[in-house]
Amino acid sequence: MAAKKTVAIIAASRGLGLALADEYCARGWHVIATSRGKSAGLDELHQLYPASLEIENVDIVQLASIRALKKRLAGRRLDTLFVNAGICKANELTPIAVSDHDFLDMMLTNALSPMRVIEALENLVPENGVIAALSSEIGSIGNCVGFWELYSSSKAALNMLMKAFSARHPNDPRALLLVAPGWVRTDMGGDEATLGISDSIPLVVDMVERNAGVPGLRFTDRHGEILPW
Ligand SMILES: NC(=O)c1ccc[n+]([C@@H]2O[C@H](COP(=O)([O-])OP(=O)(O)OC[C@H]3O[C@@H](n4cnc5c(N)ncnc54)[C@H](OP(=O)(O)O)[C@@H]3O)[C@@H](O)[C@H]2O)c1
Repeated sequence: MAAKKTVAIIAASRGLGLALADEYCARGWHVIATSRGKSAGLDELHQLYPASLEIENVDIVQLASIRALKKRLAGRRLDTLFVNAGICKANELTPIAVSDHDFLDMMLTNALSPMRVIEALENLVPENGVIAALSSEIGSIGNCVGFWELYSSSKAALNMLMKAFSARHPNDPRALLLVAPGWVRTDMGGDEATLGISDSIPLVVDMVERNAGVPGLRFTDRHGEILPW
């Protein structure tokens, strides 16, 4: 029998990350799901999948916390590393109105820190593995219509950093994915969002699974359609 595959989902306390953990557990994967505090959702999921769900802890804006996770996971194999963490603040504001603090918080959480997690854990991902980060359709500069512009700019920065990572690893055989899940009803997406979690996450996981063993960087939506940078 083939060994169980392992996915690490960084930030799975609620929303899309929790749904990813649920979906991978249901598909028979071993799941390492992180939160930065107590998560009732993860505790419930653990009751359902006590053998395949492992709960870990990391606050991605704390470099020491990333380093501690790296130490705890040393020697493990992550067939898929999926960085989901993100925040959205001051989404309706413009550069002159946003506080420095809110803008910097988004840049730190959405762009710099996910890439720090990837830098710290990438050596655990095998040659036919996948390194994915949750980006967004509105992180596309080419398609920008000005919606949630401050948050969008943090996702564009994430895309740039992933592209730079890819450029620094020119012969990397792994799939490097920037994933746009659609506009989904979560705490962040809000009630106006066009999709429910179940309209997005199974397609996201199908798409990520199809990308295993396909080397290179792609900015893709949940269907596997390539998005313009
Ligand atoms: N919903 C959408 O329509 C949509 C669309 C495109 C992209 N995305 C992206 O998809 C991802 C998940 O979004 P969501 O809608 O599920 O948002 P959400 O419901 O607000 O959940 C955000 C998740 O990120 C975690 N997080 C935030 N800061 C963190 C930190 N410093 N360290 C560790 N974890 C942290 C949160 O943990 P806590 O519970 O501890 O706060 C939570 O698990 C984000 O990257 C978001 O930008 C969402």
